Amino acid sequence: MMKVFEKKRINGLELANSFVRSATAEGASLPNDEVSKHHTATLAALAKGGVGLIIAGSASVSPEGGAPGIAGIYADSQIEGHRRTTDAVHAGGGKIALQIFHNGKMTSKAATGLTVLAVSKDNDMGDDVKEMDAADFKRIGEAFVQATVRAKKAGYDAVQFHVAHGYFLHQVLSPMDNRRTDEYGGTLEKRIRFIAESIAATRKAVGPDYPLLLKISSEDFIEGGVTLEDALEATKQFVAAGIDAVETSSGLAGDIARLGINSFAKEAYNRKQAAYFKENLSVPVMLVGGLRSLDVAEIMLKDGVADFISLSRPLIAEPDLINRWKSGSTEKAFCKSCNGCFKPLMTGDAVVCSVKRALEKKNGTT
Ligand SMILES: Cc1cc2nc3c(=O)[nH]c(=O)nc-3n(C[C@H](O)[C@H](O)[C@H](O)COP(=O)(O)O)c2cc1C
Repeated sequence: MMKVFEKKRINGLELANSFVRSATAEGASLPNDEVSKHHTATLAALAKGGVGLIIAGSASVSPEGGAPGIAGIYADSQIEGHRRTTDAVHAGGGKIALQIFHNGKMTSKAATGLTVLAVSKDNDMGDDVKEMDAADFKRIGEAFVQATVRAKKAGYDAVQFHVAHGYFLHQVLSPMDNRRTDEYGGTLEKRIRFIAESIAATRKAVGPDYPLLLKISSEDFIEGGVTLEDALEATKQFVAAGIDAVETSSGLAGDIARLGINSFAKEAYNRKQAAYFKENLSVPVMLVGGLRSLDVAEIMLKDGVADFISLSRPLIAEPDLINRWKSGSTEKAFCKSCNGCFKPLMTGDAVVCSVKRALEKKNGTT
């Protein structure tokens, strides 16, 4: 059997194979940031399609940390909708985690109706933005704990902390965004502290057996940003605080979902970072970014680059990709890496593959 199809385990969670659906905002959340039928249907289709671990797209831990179309997990009233999704995934034989996040300064008052929270306030940020004080940190830290408690109640098999792609927890870690002079800013140690404290408090709240995952930008590729060494040191401390597995993404906006992945060399573009993390960590590592071929996925596991293969855009186009590969088709993923799937997010709409949608329209199948 290929390594990618062998059973895996994270903490107590048994998984059918090494394929992970990397957190991908589903879009189209309902009023009050509740999950929609589209959310449930998208994730249920992935379970039927054979994905070992599905990570549901980022859900905000606090109302001011969200954005239109993005689901929330900040209120008990939101649990029921999430429960419909986890029930549907479990009925399809899948396992599902919820990614939890806060936008920090990456949102607007126009989007949420609330004052935007910034780790440090830049001169050009305006009156709608507030630099966080100690009470804000306390409240948001507790929001991450309570979001995880709710996710567990809603039936999610794990939770993933989003410390990547320039959102709030990444802002706390980054010396570019975090220029504070209190206990949460300055040295690397201090920039790590809030996140490590939040993870440790979450671990305490959910007990030792509940899997806690991390997605981190392993380096920022920008002068003054988070370096590979700093991200690794931070991750070591997050693991010590209670993280069971780490997904290594990289970069800020332009680097996260690279365009035109059409060769072996372009595939698995975070492989060096993942290998470095795997070499230096005691927990499983998930490789995300540009995985498109079954043989590349297999090589990544065989070469010890990572323990899990994580995919986002290919599974938007083909929710049944993993079962297709498992049943013997070795053709690479249909995904053209054009990023047309990002467009609906700009307006809070349902995330779909624009190429597939255009083809379906042309063929009259939609
Ligand atoms: C439409 C869309 C939404 C995304 N939403 C999230 C998200 O909620 N959280 C996250 O960590 N990454 C998100 N990503 C990034 C992906 O998880 C992944 O890291 C990136 O697309 C690279 O992997 P890929 O080449 O397999 O697409 C999103 C990507 C896309 C295309």
